[in-house]
Amino acid sequence: MFYQKVIRPYLFSKDPEEIHYSAFKIGQFIQQYDGFCQLLKEFTTQADSNSEIVRNGIRFPNPVGLAAGFDKNALLIPLYEALGFGFAEIGSITAQPSPGNPKPRLFRLPNDEAIINRMGLNNDGAEIICDRLKKRTSKIPIGVNIAKTPKQGLSGNEAILDYAKSYALAIPVADYITVNISCPNTGDGKSFEEPDSFEKLLTALRQVPGSETKPLYVKFSADTDDKTLKKLIQISERLEIDGYVAVNTSTQRTGLHTGWKKLSTIGNGGLSGKPLNEVALSKIKFIRDEIGAQKTIIGVGGIMSPDDAFKRRDAGADLIQIYTGLVYGGPFLVSSINKYLNKLH
Ligand code: FNR
Repeated sequence: MFYQKVIRPYLFSKDPEEIHYSAFKIGQFIQQYDGFCQLLKEFTTQADSNSEIVRNGIRFPNPVGLAAGFDKNALLIPLYEALGFGFAEIGSITAQPSPGNPKPRLFRLPNDEAIINRMGLNNDGAEIICDRLKKRTSKIPIGVNIAKTPKQGLSGNEAILDYAKSYALAIPVADYITVNISCPNTGDGKSFEEPDSFEKLLTALRQVPGSETKPLYVKFSADTDDKTLKKLIQISERLEIDGYVAVNTSTQRTGLHTGWKKLSTIGNGGLSGKPLNEVALSKIKFIRDEIGAQKTIIGVGGIMSPDDAFKRRDAGADLIQIYTGLVYGGPFLVSSINKYLNKLH
């Protein structure tokens, strides 16, 4: 409550992207000192050992993860561990570094507990980020989310090679790798959602040396219709993909409380947060029905409370991830979910 009543109003009076980077600076300062991290662990609820879950040979201390996009450059991993996260997904990383789209590109919709972003994959590039990950000492599992470099004209085979470069760099440093085919914020970030191109991409990735050593997951958009999703899942199953991340942001704007005037001023971008609740749940259920009990599903989208987290589990998710919930609920949302988890055992 302290976060919602005191800290959030202050943060929300500032530019969203500036606050994000200021929070990162504070986080980087805190995590330099082991004593601070220990103190943070004392103030947060860490999941107990019964929350541990093993999927694809990875031991997750608890099922609550950080979603991709929050820390594209792998800068705050010790902090996530101290806050009680069970894992974190770094990225999306791209083969070439990218400054992303022009600013402003990040917008809050407080009436909807939502965010619209068109960051456009701003990241330091796969080489630098994977090098950073090589040196990490934290114990929580790390996923690396790979996407296509946002460069005009990069398509077809060249685009596949671009993904493959990031993939090859990520294999030795990641616990699992997620292929992001669902970025709505780059010119053709979703071009691999077309089943034939998707199959070519996955086939090529499967041939990268070392591919068999790390689990490979695919992240789908909230907007993929069930017919296409079914085809994409069939291809993934044929190519022995290990799991699914559902869902990425949506380009839809229906049912929002925020007025059209504000929405049209904001313009394009991916919608995240509370409005994704229903669609995220339905996509998890759909995927679970298609794949059966064995494969991993990470449920992401619209998790704003412990109750939302448990609904994902009931729908068939093994693990969950949060992003927008952290902005509206504060970093101790993880702690609240852990508290519920601990009570369950
Ligand atoms: C994202 N998301 C995202 N996903 C991804 O696979 N690669 C990325 O680079 C990003 N970047 C990104 C930036 C910003 C500002 C936001 C808000 C989101 C999507 C994210 O991982 C998640 O799938 C959605 O945000 C839905 O979850 P929440 O935010 O409703 O918990």
